[in-house]
Amino acid sequence: MQLQLRDVIQKTTQFFRDKGFENPRLDTELLVARALNWDRLKLYLNFDYPMNDAELALARELVRRRATGEPVAYILGSRDFYNHSFFVNNAVLIPRPETESLVEAVISWTGSGAIQSDLIRIIDFGTGSGCVGLSLLAAIPNAQLVAIDISAQAIEVARKNAKQLEIADRVQFIENDVSTVTLGQIKQSFGEMDWQAHVIVGNPPYISESDPEIEKNVKAFEPAIALFSPDQGLAHLRAWAKMAATFANDGAMIMFEMGYTQGRAATQIFEDLGSFKQIEVGKDLSGRDRFIKAIKN
Ligand SMILES: C[S@@+](CC[C@H](N)C(=O)[O-])C[C@H]1O[C@@H](n2cnc3c(N)ncnc32)[C@H](O)[C@@H]1O
Repeated sequence: MQLQLRDVIQKTTQFFRDKGFENPRLDTELLVARALNWDRLKLYLNFDYPMNDAELALARELVRRRATGEPVAYILGSRDFYNHSFFVNNAVLIPRPETESLVEAVISWTGSGAIQSDLIRIIDFGTGSGCVGLSLLAAIPNAQLVAIDISAQAIEVARKNAKQLEIADRVQFIENDVSTVTLGQIKQSFGEMDWQAHVIVGNPPYISESDPEIEKNVKAFEPAIALFSPDQGLAHLRAWAKMAATFANDGAMIMFEMGYTQGRAATQIFEDLGSFKQIEVGKDLSGRDRFIKAIKN
């Protein structure tokens, strides 16, 4: 049986709406466009298009996956983040819009003349898909990046993204727990003995295992290693702040994402280390505390 595109979109949107999805129409358009191998705009110009059996079967399969709660980004294998499309799979956190503010803040700081060096050295802790570090690298032509993640599968995804963005020659990956990486490993990555960072960024796992607010589908589909941290979600932030103190140049900027209730605890963590000044909490676009920033003494 043939169905017009218009009907498929309407029925699927209603199906997703009934399931309580947040963006039923957008999800539908993205999945149907994929089934047709079109871009989304083309849908709008062809609502009368009669979908054939093969196209309908593919659309049904994608809709079935979405109906289980699987995020659209995993089904499509990509997510847009700060001007670029990133390849993603279920080994990495899906890049979040709030994290783009971190990228923006760092780009504006590096552009302000705060760094007295022709080469800007950046470290990304817990790189995942690479969305933070690689977006910085793509935007700052005179930057080099060391991207660290404990997950081999995540590093594989980030490598693929670096190639796709054509910046693989300016990044070195280290597969390691951030809290046991040595300064030697960092320095060796670019074969330079004075490789000390001007910028250290990170989006650590910061959710407490007992957090009642975590969405069901986030927990079901995204990797636990990217989400959860012991000690009320603060263990990684604490360990990573300590490592940042070791790897940062004097005057370097450190900026980590954190949970919206963690501002006070994160500030305390940075203060207790005694290696930082200008410790500040930054907000996300919805006005909630979301970042901890500091300058290395
Ligand atoms: C919240 S995700 C952030 C991913 C990406 N930077 C982003 O912003 O979308 C945290 C990342 O840290 C990695 N990770 C978790 N524990 C780690 C550790 N001890 N050392 C290094 N990486 C770790 C996870 O594999 C995951 O990729």
